[in-house]
Amino acid sequence: MSAPNKSYDPVEVEALKPEEIARMRDAAFAAFAAAGDLEALREAKVAHTGDRSPLALANREIGALPPHAKADAGKRVGGARGEVNRALKARQEELEAERDARVLVEEAVDVTLPHDRTPAGARHPLTTLMERIADVFTAMGYEVAEGPEVEAEWFNFDALNFPPDHPARAMQDTFFVQGAKTADTSSAAGKEDSGVVLRTHTSPVQIRAMLDRELPVYVICPGRTFRTDELDATHTPVFHQVELLAVDEGLTMADLKGTLDHMVQALFGEGMSTRLRPNFFPFTEPSAEMDMQCYVCRGESVGNPDRPCRTCGSEGWIELGGCGMVNPRVLTACGVDPEKYSGFAFGFGIERMLMFRHNVEDMRDMVEGDVRFTRPFGMEI
Ligand code: DAH
Repeated sequence: MSAPNKSYDPVEVEALKPEEIARMRDAAFAAFAAAGDLEALREAKVAHTGDRSPLALANREIGALPPHAKADAGKRVGGARGEVNRALKARQEELEAERDARVLVEEAVDVTLPHDRTPAGARHPLTTLMERIADVFTAMGYEVAEGPEVEAEWFNFDALNFPPDHPARAMQDTFFVQGAKTADTSSAAGKEDSGVVLRTHTSPVQIRAMLDRELPVYVICPGRTFRTDELDATHTPVFHQVELLAVDEGLTMADLKGTLDHMVQALFGEGMSTRLRPNFFPFTEPSAEMDMQCYVCRGESVGNPDRPCRTCGSEGWIELGGCGMVNPRVLTACGVDPEKYSGFAFGFGIERMLMFRHNVEDMRDMVEGDVRFTRPFGMEI
Protein backbone atom coordinates (compact mmCIF):
# COMPACT_ATOMS: atom_id res chain seq x y z
CA MET A 1 0.00 0.00 0.00
CA SER A 2 1.34 3.47 -0.83
CA ALA A 3 2.07 5.89 1.99
CA PRO A 4 -0.19 8.99 2.48
CA ASN A 5 1.09 11.83 0.37
CA LYS A 6 -0.53 15.19 -0.12
CA SER A 7 0.86 15.54 -3.60
CA TYR A 8 -0.18 12.03 -4.57
CA ASP A 9 -1.88 11.87 -8.00
CA PRO A 10 -4.68 9.29 -8.00
CA VAL A 11 -4.43 8.88 -11.72
CA GLU A 12 -0.89 7.79 -11.22
CA VAL A 13 -1.80 5.11 -8.66
CA GLU A 14 -1.85 2.08 -10.93
CA ALA A 15 -4.58 0.13 -9.16
CA LEU A 16 -6.99 3.04 -9.13
CA LYS A 17 -6.80 3.99 -12.78
CA PRO A 18 -10.28 3.71 -14.40
CA GLU A 19 -9.10 1.17 -16.96
CA GLU A 20 -7.52 -0.92 -14.19
CA ILE A 21 -10.75 -0.90 -12.18
CA ALA A 22 -12.69 -1.81 -15.33
CA ARG A 23 -10.24 -4.65 -16.01
CA MET A 24 -10.65 -6.03 -12.46
CA ARG A 25 -14.42 -5.81 -12.81
CA ASP A 26 -14.38 -7.53 -16.20
CA ALA A 27 -12.04 -10.20 -14.86
CA ALA A 28 -14.61 -10.86 -12.12
CA PHE A 29 -17.45 -11.00 -14.67
CA ALA A 30 -15.46 -13.45 -16.79
CA ALA A 31 -14.63 -15.63 -13.80
CA PHE A 32 -18.27 -15.78 -12.72
CA ALA A 33 -19.41 -16.61 -16.23
CA ALA A 34 -16.78 -19.31 -16.47
CA ALA A 35 -17.79 -20.91 -13.16
CA GLY A 36 -19.72 -24.01 -14.27
CA ASP A 37 -21.12 -24.92 -10.87
CA LEU A 38 -21.69 -23.48 -7.43
CA GLU A 39 -18.38 -24.79 -6.13
CA ALA A 40 -16.43 -23.03 -8.90
CA LEU A 41 -18.46 -19.89 -8.28
CA ARG A 42 -17.54 -20.00 -4.60
CA GLU A 43 -13.87 -19.95 -5.59
CA ALA A 44 -14.41 -17.10 -8.05
CA LYS A 45 -16.28 -15.21 -5.35
CA VAL A 46 -13.34 -15.46 -2.93
CA ALA A 47 -10.92 -14.48 -5.68
CA HIS A 48 -12.91 -11.45 -6.88
CA THR A 49 -14.83 -10.17 -3.85
CA GLY A 50 -12.76 -11.49 -0.92
CA ASP A 51 -10.36 -9.53 1.29
CA ARG A 52 -7.44 -10.33 -0.98
CA SER A 53 -9.26 -9.65 -4.27
CA PRO A 54 -7.83 -6.94 -6.61
CA LEU A 55 -10.82 -4.66 -6.01
CA ALA A 56 -10.52 -5.01 -2.21
CA LEU A 57 -6.84 -4.23 -2.44
CA ALA A 58 -7.55 -1.26 -4.72
CA ASN A 59 -10.09 -0.06 -2.18
CA ARG A 60 -7.41 0.01 0.45
CA GLU A 61 -5.28 2.25 -1.77
CA ILE A 62 -7.96 4.97 -1.49
CA GLY A 63 -6.93 5.68 2.07
CA ALA A 64 -3.54 6.75 0.83
CA LEU A 65 -4.97 9.34 -1.57
CA PRO A 66 -5.13 13.06 -0.84
CA PRO A 67 -8.63 14.03 0.39
CA HIS A 68 -9.70 15.71 -2.87
CA ALA A 69 -9.01 12.52 -4.83
CA LYS A 70 -10.65 10.12 -2.41
CA ALA A 71 -14.25 10.72 -3.49
CA ASP A 72 -13.60 10.10 -7.14
CA ALA A 73 -11.57 6.96 -6.58
CA GLY A 74 -14.05 5.74 -3.96
CA LYS A 75 -16.94 6.16 -6.40
CA ARG A 76 -15.07 4.26 -9.08
CA VAL A 77 -14.06 1.35 -6.88
CA GLY A 78 -17.41 1.24 -5.05
CA GLY A 79 -19.29 1.27 -8.35
CA ALA A 80 -17.19 -1.58 -9.69
CA ARG A 81 -17.61 -3.63 -6.52
CA GLY A 82 -21.38 -3.09 -6.67
CA GLU A 83 -21.46 -4.32 -10.27
CA VAL A 84 -19.34 -7.32 -9.35
CA ASN A 85 -21.62 -8.23 -6.44
CA ARG A 86 -24.70 -7.97 -8.61
CA ALA A 87 -23.09 -10.13 -11.28
CA LEU A 88 -22.12 -12.65 -8.59
CA LYS A 89 -25.68 -12.76 -7.25
CA ALA A 90 -27.16 -13.18 -10.73
CA ARG A 91 -24.77 -16.02 -11.57
CA GLN A 92 -25.40 -17.61 -8.18
CA GLU A 93 -29.17 -17.65 -8.84
CA GLU A 94 -28.60 -19.02 -12.32
CA LEU A 95 -26.44 -21.87 -11.07
CA GLU A 96 -28.84 -22.66 -8.20
CA ALA A 97 -31.73 -22.87 -10.64
CA GLU A 98 -29.69 -25.18 -12.86
CA ARG A 99 -28.80 -27.36 -9.86
CA ASP A 100 -32.42 -27.55 -8.71
CA ALA A 101 -33.59 -28.52 -12.16
CA ARG A 102 -30.89 -31.20 -12.38
CA VAL A 103 -31.69 -32.59 -8.93
CA LEU A 104 -35.36 -32.83 -9.84
CA VAL A 105 -34.45 -34.98 -12.83
CA GLU A 106 -31.65 -36.99 -11.22
CA GLU A 107 -33.40 -37.67 -7.93
CA ALA A 108 -36.89 -38.14 -9.31
CA VAL A 109 -38.76 -41.06 -7.72
CA ASP A 110 -41.11 -43.06 -9.91
CA VAL A 111 -43.86 -43.84 -7.47
CA THR A 112 -45.46 -46.21 -9.96
CA LEU A 113 -42.51 -48.62 -9.92
CA PRO A 114 -43.01 -51.84 -7.91
CA HIS A 115 -41.45 -51.29 -4.51
CA ASP A 116 -38.99 -53.71 -2.99
CA ARG A 117 -40.10 -53.59 0.63
CA THR A 118 -41.23 -56.86 2.15
CA PRO A 119 -44.93 -57.13 1.26
CA ALA A 120 -47.19 -56.66 4.28
CA GLY A 121 -49.60 -59.43 3.25
CA ALA A 122 -53.33 -58.84 3.34
CA ARG A 123 -56.35 -59.65 5.44
CA HIS A 124 -58.43 -62.54 4.15
CA PRO A 125 -61.65 -61.42 2.43
CA LEU A 126 -63.63 -63.96 4.49
CA THR A 127 -62.49 -62.13 7.62
CA THR A 128 -63.25 -58.69 6.28
CA LEU A 129 -66.66 -59.80 4.97
CA MET A 130 -67.59 -61.33 8.35
CA GLU A 131 -66.50 -58.15 10.10
CA ARG A 132 -68.46 -56.03 7.68
CA ILE A 133 -71.60 -58.09 8.38
CA ALA A 134 -70.97 -57.88 12.14
CA ASP A 135 -70.59 -54.09 11.76
CA VAL A 136 -74.03 -53.82 10.15
CA PHE A 137 -75.54 -55.41 13.24
CA THR A 138 -73.42 -53.80 15.96
CA ALA A 139 -74.60 -50.49 14.45
CA MET A 140 -78.15 -51.64 15.34
CA GLY A 141 -77.18 -52.53 18.91
CA TYR A 142 -76.39 -56.22 18.45
CA GLU A 143 -73.48 -57.79 20.34
CA VAL A 144 -70.89 -60.03 18.71
CA ALA A 145 -71.03 -63.45 20.43
CA GLU A 146 -68.60 -66.31 20.11
CA GLY A 147 -68.57 -69.97 21.02
CA PRO A 148 -66.06 -72.82 20.89
CA GLU A 149 -65.23 -74.58 17.64
CA VAL A 150 -64.92 -77.88 19.52
CA GLU A 151 -68.44 -78.10 20.85
CA ALA A 152 -70.52 -80.41 23.03
CA GLU A 153 -73.02 -82.39 21.01
CA TRP A 154 -75.70 -81.10 23.32
CA PHE A 155 -75.14 -77.50 22.16
CA ASN A 156 -74.58 -78.45 18.52
CA PHE A 157 -77.65 -80.72 18.24
CA ASP A 158 -79.77 -81.57 21.31
CA ALA A 159 -80.52 -78.07 22.57
CA LEU A 160 -81.32 -77.08 18.98
CA ASN A 161 -84.07 -79.74 18.88
CA PHE A 162 -82.26 -82.18 16.59
CA PRO A 163 -83.73 -85.60 17.36
CA PRO A 164 -81.13 -88.27 18.27
CA ASP A 165 -81.53 -89.94 14.86
CA HIS A 166 -81.29 -86.76 12.79
CA PRO A 167 -79.18 -87.46 9.67
CA ALA A 168 -76.98 -84.41 10.33
CA ARG A 169 -75.50 -86.25 13.28
CA ALA A 170 -74.32 -89.11 11.09
CA MET A 171 -70.67 -89.66 10.51
CA GLN A 172 -70.72 -88.37 6.92
CA ASP A 173 -71.53 -84.85 8.10
CA THR A 174 -70.03 -84.43 11.52
CA PHE A 175 -66.45 -84.61 12.76
CA PHE A 176 -66.63 -86.42 16.10
CA VAL A 177 -63.82 -85.79 18.54
CA GLN A 178 -62.28 -88.91 20.03
CA GLY A 179 -62.73 -89.15 23.78
CA ALA A 180 -59.86 -90.14 26.12
CA LYS A 181 -61.15 -93.67 26.52
CA THR A 182 -61.57 -94.04 22.78
CA ALA A 183 -57.87 -93.60 21.97
CA ASP A 184 -57.56 -97.37 21.53
CA THR A 185 -59.37 -97.65 18.19
CA SER A 186 -58.87 -101.43 18.03
CA SER A 187 -61.40 -102.01 20.80
CA ALA A 188 -65.12 -101.70 20.40
CA ALA A 189 -64.99 -98.84 22.89
CA GLY A 190 -62.88 -96.94 20.39
CA LYS A 191 -65.98 -96.34 18.27
CA GLU A 192 -67.84 -94.83 21.18
CA ASP A 193 -69.26 -91.36 20.83
CA SER A 194 -67.33 -88.85 22.98
CA GLY A 195 -70.19 -86.36 22.99
CA VAL A 196 -67.87 -83.73 21.51
CA VAL A 197 -67.89 -82.57 17.89
CA LEU A 198 -66.36 -79.90 15.70
CA ARG A 199 -69.36 -77.61 15.45
CA THR A 200 -71.22 -78.17 12.20
CA HIS A 201 -72.84 -74.72 12.27
CA THR A 202 -72.80 -71.52 14.33
CA SER A 203 -76.30 -72.21 15.71
CA PRO A 204 -74.94 -73.60 19.05
CA VAL A 205 -73.82 -70.03 19.79
CA GLN A 206 -77.56 -69.19 19.96
CA ILE A 207 -77.87 -71.57 22.90
CA ARG A 208 -74.78 -70.22 24.65
CA ALA A 209 -75.96 -66.64 24.09
CA MET A 210 -79.33 -67.34 25.72
CA LEU A 211 -77.76 -69.18 28.65
CA ASP A 212 -75.07 -66.51 29.21
CA ARG A 213 -77.10 -63.34 28.84
CA GLU A 214 -80.00 -61.54 30.41
CA LEU A 215 -83.02 -61.11 28.16
CA PRO A 216 -83.55 -59.53 25.69
CA VAL A 217 -80.78 -61.05 23.57
CA TYR A 218 -79.55 -59.53 20.30
CA VAL A 219 -76.40 -61.25 19.05
CA ILE A 220 -74.51 -61.76 15.81
CA CYS A 221 -72.12 -64.71 15.75
CA PRO A 222 -69.54 -65.05 13.00
CA GLY A 223 -67.37 -68.14 13.15
CA ARG A 224 -65.66 -71.17 11.71
CA THR A 225 -67.60 -74.39 11.15
CA PHE A 226 -66.73 -77.93 10.05
CA ARG A 227 -68.28 -80.73 8.03
CA THR A 228 -66.83 -83.89 6.55
CA ASP A 229 -66.90 -82.65 2.95
CA GLU A 230 -64.08 -83.18 0.47
CA LEU A 231 -62.39 -79.99 -0.67
CA ASP A 232 -63.50 -79.15 -4.20
CA ALA A 233 -64.68 -76.12 -6.20
CA THR A 234 -67.91 -75.83 -4.21
CA HIS A 235 -67.17 -77.58 -0.89
CA THR A 236 -64.68 -77.18 1.90
CA PRO A 237 -64.57 -79.11 5.19
CA VAL A 238 -63.72 -75.91 7.07
CA PHE A 239 -65.99 -72.99 6.29
CA HIS A 240 -67.58 -69.96 7.94
CA GLN A 241 -71.06 -68.93 8.91
CA VAL A 242 -72.72 -65.91 10.44
CA GLU A 243 -75.58 -66.58 12.82
CA LEU A 244 -78.04 -64.07 14.15
CA LEU A 245 -80.35 -64.38 17.14
CA ALA A 246 -82.85 -61.92 18.55
CA VAL A 247 -85.02 -62.88 21.56
CA ASP A 248 -87.37 -60.29 22.99
CA GLU A 249 -91.00 -59.74 23.82
CA GLY A 250 -93.28 -59.51 20.81
CA LEU A 251 -90.83 -60.30 18.00
CA THR A 252 -92.52 -61.55 14.84
CA MET A 253 -91.58 -62.77 11.40
CA ALA A 254 -92.05 -59.17 10.19
CA ASP A 255 -89.08 -58.18 12.38
CA LEU A 256 -87.05 -60.99 10.83
CA LYS A 257 -87.96 -59.87 7.31
CA GLY A 258 -87.16 -56.22 8.05
CA THR A 259 -83.82 -57.20 9.57
CA LEU A 260 -82.90 -59.31 6.53
CA ASP A 261 -83.89 -56.52 4.15
CA HIS A 262 -81.76 -54.06 6.10
CA MET A 263 -78.79 -56.42 5.98
CA VAL A 264 -78.88 -56.96 2.22
CA GLN A 265 -79.35 -53.24 1.63
CA ALA A 266 -76.34 -52.45 3.84
CA LEU A 267 -74.22 -55.07 2.08
CA PHE A 268 -75.46 -54.88 -1.51
CA GLY A 269 -77.08 -51.49 -1.99
CA GLU A 270 -80.22 -49.41 -1.77
CA GLY A 271 -83.54 -50.97 -2.68
CA MET A 272 -82.42 -54.59 -2.27
CA SER A 273 -84.96 -56.98 -0.80
CA THR A 274 -85.29 -60.57 0.38
CA ARG A 275 -87.91 -63.27 0.06
CA LEU A 276 -88.69 -66.24 2.29
CA ARG A 277 -89.57 -69.73 1.10
CA PRO A 278 -91.01 -72.34 3.50
CA ASN A 279 -88.47 -74.88 4.71
CA PHE A 280 -87.70 -77.00 7.74
CA PHE A 281 -85.08 -76.63 10.48
CA PRO A 282 -85.53 -78.33 13.85
CA PHE A 283 -84.60 -75.17 15.77
CA THR A 284 -87.00 -72.77 14.06
CA GLU A 285 -90.78 -72.88 13.61
CA PRO A 286 -91.83 -71.67 11.13
CA SER A 287 -88.63 -72.03 9.15
CA ALA A 288 -87.70 -70.52 5.81
CA GLU A 289 -85.06 -70.47 3.19
CA MET A 290 -84.04 -66.87 2.57
CA ASP A 291 -83.15 -65.49 -0.85
CA MET A 292 -81.91 -62.04 -1.72
CA GLN A 293 -82.71 -60.20 -4.89
CA CYS A 294 -79.87 -60.50 -7.41
CA TYR A 295 -77.86 -57.34 -6.90
CA VAL A 296 -76.41 -57.54 -10.42
CA CYS A 297 -79.51 -57.82 -12.65
CA ARG A 298 -82.11 -56.92 -9.99
CA GLY A 299 -84.40 -59.48 -11.59
CA GLU A 300 -84.21 -58.08 -15.09
CA SER A 301 -82.61 -61.25 -16.49
CA VAL A 302 -85.66 -63.34 -15.60
CA GLY A 303 -87.34 -64.54 -18.80
CA ASN A 304 -85.05 -62.23 -20.77
CA PRO A 305 -82.65 -64.34 -22.90
CA ASP A 306 -81.03 -61.15 -24.25
CA ARG A 307 -79.81 -60.25 -20.77
CA PRO A 308 -78.58 -63.44 -19.10
CA CYS A 309 -77.16 -62.98 -15.57
CA ARG A 310 -74.25 -65.16 -14.44
CA THR A 311 -74.57 -64.18 -10.79
CA CYS A 312 -78.10 -65.53 -10.27
CA GLY A 313 -78.26 -67.85 -13.30
CA SER A 314 -81.10 -65.59 -14.54
CA GLU A 315 -83.22 -66.63 -11.55
CA GLY A 316 -83.44 -63.08 -10.20
CA TRP A 317 -82.82 -64.38 -6.68
CA ILE A 318 -79.75 -65.70 -4.86
CA GLU A 319 -80.10 -68.20 -2.02
CA LEU A 320 -78.50 -66.93 1.19
CA GLY A 321 -79.29 -69.40 3.98
CA GLY A 322 -81.87 -70.42 6.54
CA CYS A 323 -83.98 -68.50 9.01
CA GLY A 324 -87.11 -68.63 11.09
CA MET A 325 -88.78 -68.00 14.43
CA VAL A 326 -86.89 -69.70 17.26
CA ASN A 327 -88.66 -72.97 18.09
CA PRO A 328 -90.35 -72.72 21.54
CA ARG A 329 -88.62 -76.01 22.44
CA VAL A 330 -85.24 -74.29 21.94
CA LEU A 331 -86.32 -71.34 24.10
CA THR A 332 -87.46 -73.78 26.79
CA ALA A 333 -84.14 -75.69 26.64
CA CYS A 334 -82.43 -72.38 27.43
CA GLY A 335 -84.78 -71.47 30.27
CA VAL A 336 -86.61 -68.79 28.28
CA ASP A 337 -90.40 -68.65 28.70
CA PRO A 338 -91.91 -69.07 25.21
CA GLU A 339 -95.22 -67.64 26.48
CA LYS A 340 -93.52 -64.32 27.15
CA TYR A 341 -90.66 -64.22 24.68
CA SER A 342 -90.25 -64.99 21.01
CA GLY A 343 -87.20 -64.89 18.83
CA PHE A 344 -85.98 -64.96 15.29
CA ALA A 345 -82.75 -66.35 13.91
CA PHE A 346 -80.88 -66.77 10.69
CA GLY A 347 -77.63 -68.31 9.54
CA PHE A 348 -75.73 -68.39 6.30
CA GLY A 349 -72.40 -69.34 4.76
CA ILE A 350 -69.76 -66.70 4.22
CA GLU A 351 -67.85 -68.59 1.50
CA ARG A 352 -70.96 -68.67 -0.65
CA MET A 353 -71.58 -64.97 -0.16
CA LEU A 354 -67.95 -64.16 -0.99
CA MET A 355 -68.27 -66.29 -4.15
CA PHE A 356 -71.28 -64.49 -5.58
CA ARG A 357 -70.34 -61.06 -4.20
CA HIS A 358 -66.88 -61.14 -5.82
CA ASN A 359 -67.26 -63.71 -8.62
CA VAL A 360 -64.92 -66.19 -6.97
CA GLU A 361 -65.42 -69.37 -8.94
CA ASP A 362 -63.41 -71.93 -6.98
CA MET A 363 -63.69 -72.36 -3.22
CA ARG A 364 -60.17 -73.80 -3.09
CA ASP A 365 -58.81 -70.32 -3.82
CA MET A 366 -60.16 -69.24 -0.43
CA VAL A 367 -58.40 -71.92 1.58
CA GLU A 368 -55.03 -72.19 -0.11
CA GLY A 369 -53.65 -69.13 1.63
CA ASP A 370 -52.07 -67.68 -1.50
CA VAL A 371 -51.65 -63.96 -0.94
CA ARG A 372 -52.14 -63.38 -4.69
CA PHE A 373 -55.80 -64.27 -4.12
CA THR A 374 -56.14 -62.17 -1.00
CA ARG A 375 -54.37 -58.98 -2.02
CA PRO A 376 -56.76 -57.74 -4.75
CA PHE A 377 -59.48 -57.43 -2.09
CA GLY A 378 -57.44 -54.58 -0.61
CA MET A 379 -56.62 -53.65 2.94
CA GLU A 380 -60.11 -53.15 4.22
CA ILE A 381 -59.82 -52.75 7.98
N1 DAH B 1 -77.62 -73.75 11.05
C1 DAH B 1 -78.19 -73.90 9.73
C2 DAH B 1 -77.21 -74.60 8.81
O1 DAH B 1 -76.05 -74.64 9.09
C3 DAH B 1 -78.54 -72.56 9.14
C4 DAH B 1 -79.65 -71.89 9.86
C5 DAH B 1 -80.97 -72.11 9.46
C6 DAH B 1 -79.40 -71.05 10.92
C7 DAH B 1 -82.01 -71.49 10.10
C8 DAH B 1 -80.46 -70.41 11.58
C9 DAH B 1 -81.76 -70.63 11.15
O2 DAH B 1 -80.25 -69.56 12.61
O3 DAH B 1 -82.77 -70.02 11.80
O4 DAH B 1 -77.62 -75.09 7.79
